[in-house]
Amino acid sequence: MKKTILTKFAQVFGDNEGAKAYFAPGRVNLIGEHTDYNGGHVFPCALTIGTYGVARKRDDNKLRFYSMNFEHLGVIESSLDDLKPYKEADWTNYPKGIIWAFGEKGMQVPQGMDLLLCGNIPNGSGLSSSASVEVLTGFILRDLFGFEVTNTELALIGQFSENKFNGVNCGIMDQFAIAMGKKDHAIFLDTADLSYEYAPIKLQGAKIVIVCSNKKRGLGDSKYNERRSECEQALSELQKKADIKTLGDLTGEKFEEIKGVIASDVRMKRAKHAVYENQRTIQAVQALKENDIKQFGQLMNASHVSLRDDYEVTGVELDTLAEEAWKVEGVIGSRMTGAGFGGCTVSIVKDEAIDTFIEQVGAAYLEKIGYAADFYVVEVGDGPAVL
Ligand code: GLA
Repeated sequence: MKKTILTKFAQVFGDNEGAKAYFAPGRVNLIGEHTDYNGGHVFPCALTIGTYGVARKRDDNKLRFYSMNFEHLGVIESSLDDLKPYKEADWTNYPKGIIWAFGEKGMQVPQGMDLLLCGNIPNGSGLSSSASVEVLTGFILRDLFGFEVTNTELALIGQFSENKFNGVNCGIMDQFAIAMGKKDHAIFLDTADLSYEYAPIKLQGAKIVIVCSNKKRGLGDSKYNERRSECEQALSELQKKADIKTLGDLTGEKFEEIKGVIASDVRMKRAKHAVYENQRTIQAVQALKENDIKQFGQLMNASHVSLRDDYEVTGVELDTLAEEAWKVEGVIGSRMTGAGFGGCTVSIVKDEAIDTFIEQVGAAYLEKIGYAADFYVVEVGDGPAVL
């Protein structure tokens, strides 16, 4: 891959003298969905698929971007003097947002650069291709210009840029999972204070299989921001009854005791999901530590049901994938992953059941939805790196 992208860089930008190659992963969340902006826990891991990049400083203020995933867009140009999001700037609004965010945090990028990207995460699939580009860009800026920022700060800058530059009110999970990824480990992160712990992923004869629904999802125009504000409203109602900072501060018991103060059924359901999903995540990590993979899988299934019935972010495509997966013998657990509204499911499937899983779920999905799903047996990888 390194050779391919360096060669392409030379074709697009004249030569590759002094250019360096980099990688940042994508991520999949095993459990803890829509909890990260509610002060709860998440349990994602970085993948070995992700975004490759080649970058080189320039002597002027120009920014030139090229993506091998969007070759028809050609080279998209901008400049350090014009760090604003434009619709026509398309995917380059992500790296540009990071350059802008560095400046906002007191780290002015002093020179322009040429940047070529090539990703092998299916776009818009819910495996965080955008956060991968964000963290990759931050990692490149640190390497090229010598800024002193930790990987946690790179994650926070990525989130800040996505919130303020790209207009999506996302939480910290995706950027954190990518910036802090560790091979064969998932990250048990408490989003209330960013304390975290790595948990080994020992799946005892099983693998993580991601199924992409191929229903495209744009976070910006989805109901994501709406869910977030429903939770914020529910929180302020609950705060009349309890001294809490986030929904993640509530146990299930306490929630049941005070939930009557929430004035709408819809907000009640949203808050219920946030509270119980956080509890499920804590229990799931405990189960994994005790090698109780069966319990881990059941909690994944319960997570999907809650996202379907209470948080209402699944849709017929993701429901079909999860529900068909549950029918296959050898499937330990299966649920939607990421924001929802399309995107992917994540399943833990016993090695010997993987072929049947792909066949059976694939056929049922095609029949019901009318187009095919894609299957990826994935591995848990490290965070960003110089290649
Ligand atoms: C998206 C967001 C994350 C998180 C998930 C849902 O991936 O970027 O911050 O909220 O949705 O768990």
